[in-house]
Amino acid sequence: MAVSRRDKADFFTKKAHSEGYPARSVYKLEEINAAHRIIKPGDTVLDVGAAPGSWTLYTHRELLKGRGRIVSCDLNPLSLDPIPPTVTEITGDAFSREIRARLVAEGPYDAIISDAAPMTTGNRIVDTTRSEYLAEQVVMLSEEQLKPHGNLVIKIFQGGGEQEVLKTMRGLFRKAKAFKPKASRDDSFEIFLIGLDKY
Ligand SMILES: C[S@@+](CC[C@H](N)C(=O)[O-])C[C@H]1O[C@@H](n2cnc3c(N)ncnc32)[C@H](O)[C@@H]1O
Repeated sequence: MAVSRRDKADFFTKKAHSEGYPARSVYKLEEINAAHRIIKPGDTVLDVGAAPGSWTLYTHRELLKGRGRIVSCDLNPLSLDPIPPTVTEITGDAFSREIRARLVAEGPYDAIISDAAPMTTGNRIVDTTRSEYLAEQVVMLSEEQLKPHGNLVIKIFQGGGEQEVLKTMRGLFRKAKAFKPKASRDDSFEIFLIGLDKY
């Protein structure tokens, strides 16, 4: 029997909840890290757009194995209870002057991961433009705050400037590519840009 898109989504959501994760997005990071080895135990990691907290929790449990540090920033608070001991939570706009300064004070980082997304309006041009802005801001932050040999993961909505962002990343990393995880919904126009081994 064919599995519908909705059944597949429900399956991942239920699996995430049964494993203690607040959102199904955890399986995208799992796939990205399995393919590209972004984070290793002992790393200092910045998670931008971290709420409700699945990527942060997965990083703490499975990638850092409790060894290292995660700075998790979002407009909204994490919904993890308790907050893992490796996590420093910073609530606010990652690109405002005040919050950016706090992120810089916690750096530099071995890896920056960003699943940040704008509130969608349904207008594809507006949504992709806002997503592109977030992605560009994360690239600028990583230019400054990612250590040499560091790795970057950024979500961006396709149809905007993803090729331009990738071009910028090719100047900053020895390897840069686009990646669409299988766990990403079939009807989602998100894609992830991966930068490996910063110059
Ligand atoms: C898809 S959710 C992230 C899910 C998260 N990776 C997880 O696994 O739980 C996108 C998040 O980006 C955040 N976001 C959007 N713009 C932001 C900004 N300027 N600064 C910080 N967070 C932002 C939103 O508040 C939202 O929580």
